[in-house]
Amino acid sequence: MSCTVVVCGFFGDTGKGKIISYLSLKDRTAVTARAGVGPNAGHTVVHKGKEFKLRMLPSAFVYDKCKLLIGPGVLVNLKILLNEIELTKSKDRVGVDRQCAIIEPRHIEADKKGELAKKIKSTGSGSGPCNAERALRTARLARDLPELEGLLRDVPLEVNNAIDEGENVLIEGTQGTYLSLYHGTYPFCTSKDITASAACSDVGVGPTKVDDVILVLKAYTTRVGAGPLQGELSWEEAEKRGWAEVATVTGRRRRAAPFNYELAKRAVMLNGATKAALTKIDVLFPDCKGIKSYEELSRKAKQFIKNVEREVKVPVELIGTGPGAWETVDRRA
Ligand code: IMP
Ligand code: MG
Repeated sequence: MSCTVVVCGFFGDTGKGKIISYLSLKDRTAVTARAGVGPNAGHTVVHKGKEFKLRMLPSAFVYDKCKLLIGPGVLVNLKILLNEIELTKSKDRVGVDRQCAIIEPRHIEADKKGELAKKIKSTGSGSGPCNAERALRTARLARDLPELEGLLRDVPLEVNNAIDEGENVLIEGTQGTYLSLYHGTYPFCTSKDITASAACSDVGVGPTKVDDVILVLKAYTTRVGAGPLQGELSWEEAEKRGWAEVATVTGRRRRAAPFNYELAKRAVMLNGATKAALTKIDVLFPDCKGIKSYEELSRKAKQFIKNVEREVKVPVELIGTGPGAWETVDRRA
């Protein structure tokens, strides 16, 4: 039984949603607490042949006994939240912390106009302006909204109680290490820190309570929006390699580059990662599609995994071989 934080080691969109959905089903996770910025995130979950694109609810909704909590550090868009509760039929197990700040229409408007949209190419979800208002102490909180009344919880208390009772707990980070306001490619970054320490703070869990930090890395690197991307390929080249992706929230093309060992290594340090998950290995090695045991992976795929482990110095314990939750190689003891 353990408390595990899941964060991304690149620029987001590495498959945290898929990894969390797998872990929740496999480990029968009692509680998953969503950390991170807010609805600027898009986590894709494929379960029983159906695709879900979540921006507010934890990706662990696929395990129907998992309690789904949103920590006080997270910004809430009420409409998106209520839509997702409806879509996933999860009302009886969702809880929103009383202190989550609320994204208002004026935040979205400010995010879509002005510098954030033009220079940073933000997601336009209102997250930056809402976090700015939160720092100014003018944002409204979840406790101020009658529509949320039945969903309000003390999320830090519930998460810590679950940990103390020896339950399996997941903390779901968002975005990626190099989009962090502190550790990322400023000013081309999101509106707060989003490394593992920040994810813990978002849900009110202290560092001594965490057993594992899983760093999710994709077999190649992608980035949406502006900012540096070393080794960036043309869209045509990305298409040729099968790396041409479209963003979940904005529908924009994701810029693509080869796997970046230096960034991965530094992300292990910044997040205190104890293990790594390597996703989309089937995109690099199509013969690995859907494989569930390490032994059955091709020689080239195993070599790539070994190279990653040698460089980043933590074991790659989860390997994604397809978008479905169960298309995963699990090397944990
Ligand atoms: P914001 O978070 O909407 O302010 O956007 C700031 C930058 O972070 C932009 O380049 C966005 O494309 C990027 N970004 C924000 N959230 C995500 C995410 O969940 N995945 C990938 N990129 C993101
Ligand atoms: Mg995403």
